Amino acid sequence: MINPIYSPASDRYESGMSYRRCGRSGILLPAISLGLWHNFGDVDTFANSLRKAHFAFDQGITHFDLANNYGPSFGSAEETFGQIMKKSFAPYRDELFISTKAGHDMWPGPYGNWGSRKYLMASLDQSLRRMNLDYVDIFYSHRYDPETPVEETMQALVDIVRQGKALYVGISKYPADKAAIAYDYLADHDVPCLLYQGRYNIFNREPQTEGILDQAAANGAGFIAFSPLSQGLLTDRYLGGIPADSRVARGGFLKKESLTPETLASIKALNEIAARRGQTLAEMALAWLLKDNSVTSVIIGASSVEQMADNLKALRNTSFTSEELAEIDRAAGL
Ligand SMILES: NC(=O)c1ccc[n+]([C@@H]2O[C@H](COP(=O)([O-])OP(=O)(O)OC[C@H]3O[C@@H](n4cnc5c(N)ncnc54)[C@H](OP(=O)(O)O)[C@@H]3O)[C@@H](O)[C@H]2O)c1
Repeated sequence: MINPIYSPASDRYESGMSYRRCGRSGILLPAISLGLWHNFGDVDTFANSLRKAHFAFDQGITHFDLANNYGPSFGSAEETFGQIMKKSFAPYRDELFISTKAGHDMWPGPYGNWGSRKYLMASLDQSLRRMNLDYVDIFYSHRYDPETPVEETMQALVDIVRQGKALYVGISKYPADKAAIAYDYLADHDVPCLLYQGRYNIFNREPQTEGILDQAAANGAGFIAFSPLSQGLLTDRYLGGIPADSRVARGGFLKKESLTPETLASIKALNEIAARRGQTLAEMALAWLLKDNSVTSVIIGASSVEQMADNLKALRNTSFTSEELAEIDRAAGL
């Protein structure tokens, strides 16, 4: 069957999405963004990927988060997104904020990993080809490289912007002391860091405890949270066992061993708090992050449109009483 031509929902900016200013910048990001780390690779069904991308944009999700190695296989999420660009999104390019990154293992040999100028420059060229794009909106250094001077990595980011291949740049998972060097270098070269991307959720409070949130704000950068649902743990997904189509069952980054009796007890307790608030656990976990303006956006992963629809409902109630917050901390074992 020939695919019908995609026409986005005409009410996509009135469907309940809110947009938050990204640090001291001109950019507004949707409170909920869509990540393509999992569920968009060549092991997944293209029709489902296309459906999710359409649904996201129809609901006002303008930000799509990618990286060179997302898949599996490496590069295939960008290829999937490139097909979606070609098929559906090309006329709407200026309504989209698209990211990619380099920093993790991508190709063999000494130039396909970490933080060298050689790797970042070559990787972005490959990403642009895979995604059918002339430029990305933001390009990230995906992780701090202890062997490469931060200045080399940052100068590559600066030059990428000067070349017009990215409009903005960001850093991901940098420890605070190295992030400080990165913020200063980028600001000194008139390419201020737009975003810090870090793992943040009810179970993982590092951005708070390590001062990453405050540091981003002080440097005029936004903060965008990845794995806001702790890869699916902060949902009802595993309350009745391990579903065959789940991330744990598929193997990979979320291990069966993470489902310890303590974690399951936490999830259960959190699920009860969420139910009292009239939310699913996924909704409450996202709302918990969005309660603070220090979080510009949360990047969700989703294996179905139904999960995305559930997650979007988080925006209906993002305020918490101090009793609820204390209860959540206790349930999370903090
Ligand atoms: N910078 C970095 O180093 C880095 C690292 C990791 C991720 N990221 C970014 O962050 C994005 C999100 O990460 P993530 O996929 O770990 O996010 P997540 O939102 O914490 O987890 C997504 C998974 O949770 C489950 N899920 C989602 N909504 C649900 C719902 N309403 N009910 C039940 N289960 C639900 C699904 O699992 P099932 O698949 O089992 O259905 C889904 O695949 C990535 O795509 C990527 O863009 C960046």
